[in-house]
Amino acid sequence: MAKPSRNDLPVRSYTPPRYAPHLPVVFLTINRAGSVGKTTFGNTFASTAALRGYNGLIIDADLQSDMSRWFGYDGDFVPDGVPTVHDLMLGKNRLDEVLVPARTRIAPDTAKRPFEIIPGLDLVRGSAKMSQADGELVQDGRGIFWLQSVLKKQVPEGRYDFILIDAPASFGRLSESLMLAASDLITMMKPMRKELRGALALKRNVEDLNEKYEDFGASAQCTWYCINDAKSDSGSQGQFYANMQEEAQSLFGAQNLLPGIRNTVVLPEAYDAEEPLPFWAPRSESMGTFNTITDQMGFPVRLAA
Ligand SMILES: Nc1ncnc2c1ncn2[C@@H]1O[C@H](COP(=O)(O)OP(=O)(O)O)[C@@H](O)[C@H]1O
Ligand SMILES: [Mg+2]
Repeated sequence: MAKPSRNDLPVRSYTPPRYAPHLPVVFLTINRAGSVGKTTFGNTFASTAALRGYNGLIIDADLQSDMSRWFGYDGDFVPDGVPTVHDLMLGKNRLDEVLVPARTRIAPDTAKRPFEIIPGLDLVRGSAKMSQADGELVQDGRGIFWLQSVLKKQVPEGRYDFILIDAPASFGRLSESLMLAASDLITMMKPMRKELRGALALKRNVEDLNEKYEDFGASAQCTWYCINDAKSDSGSQGQFYANMQEEAQSLFGAQNLLPGIRNTVVLPEAYDAEEPLPFWAPRSESMGTFNTITDQMGFPVRLAA
C-alpha cells in the first residue's frame, strides 16, 4: 500500500473551541497509560513553532511540572509570592499576573545570565500544589469550568496562534476540566497494540464528555494521534514499528496520524539540560521528525514577506 506523501495531506485549519470563538486552537496532549511523551511532544512542538514565528501560550497543569522545568522554571520549589497555575485555578490571580516567558538554559554554570528567553512563548508555570486540584475543584464555584473561564475572559483575541495544555497522567476532575477547555486533542501512544486500543477507548470517553457538557460548549476533538517510542524496552525495531504505524493509520486515518517519534537519547538529554530540542539538538533526526510534525499540524516555516 502506498503511503500518502506529505503533499497529499490537506492543509490544517482548526475550529476554535465552541465556548469562546475568539480563541485560537487549544491543544491538549493526552494518553491512557502515562509517561508516554506528552510533555516531550508539547515542549518540542511549542518551541519549534515559536522559533518559526508563532505565538504560543503553554499551560502546565501537571503537578510534576516537567514542562515548566524544561522551560526554565522549577515547579517543586516556587519562591514565596510567585503565582502559578494553582493560583490561576483557584481564581487568586489573573492570567496576566501568572505568565512568565518560556526560557532555555544557555550555560549551566553562568550564574549571572543562565537563561535566554524564547520569543513568542508564554508559560503558566506549574506547581506541586496541583496534587490537591481534584478536591479543590469540588469546592470551587467555577469547578471544572475554571480553565474555560480563564481562557474565555482573559486571553485577548489575536494574542496567540495556539494554546497548549500539558496534562497530568491521572483521570480526575482536573483532567476533565482541561478537556473541557481544549479544542483539539493529541493522543500519544507507545508502539504497542494495547495502546492503540486504549486510544480508541479514550476517544469514546471524550465523546461521552462532550455529550455530557454539550450545553457548556464542550467540543474537544481527537484530532491527532502520535506514536512515540518513549523509553521502550520492547526494542521496537524496524518492522514492528512500521507495522504499528500502519495499523494506527488504518485505525485513526492517515490524515490524523503524525509521524512516529523514534526512541532516542537526545530527548531525555534535552530535558535534563533544560533546553528544548530545537536549541539542544537542532540537526538531530528527532528534530527532523518534529519539523515534519509541526508542518503537518499547520505551523509551517513562514517565508519572509
Ligand atoms: N522518543 C523518546 N525517546 C526516548 N525517551 C523518550 C522519548 N520520548 C520521551 N522520552 C522519555 O520518556 C519519559 C517520559 O516522557 P514525558 O514526555 O515526560 O512523558 P509524559 O509527559 O507523558 O509523562 C521522559 O524521561 C522522557 O525523556
Ligand atoms: Mg508530563
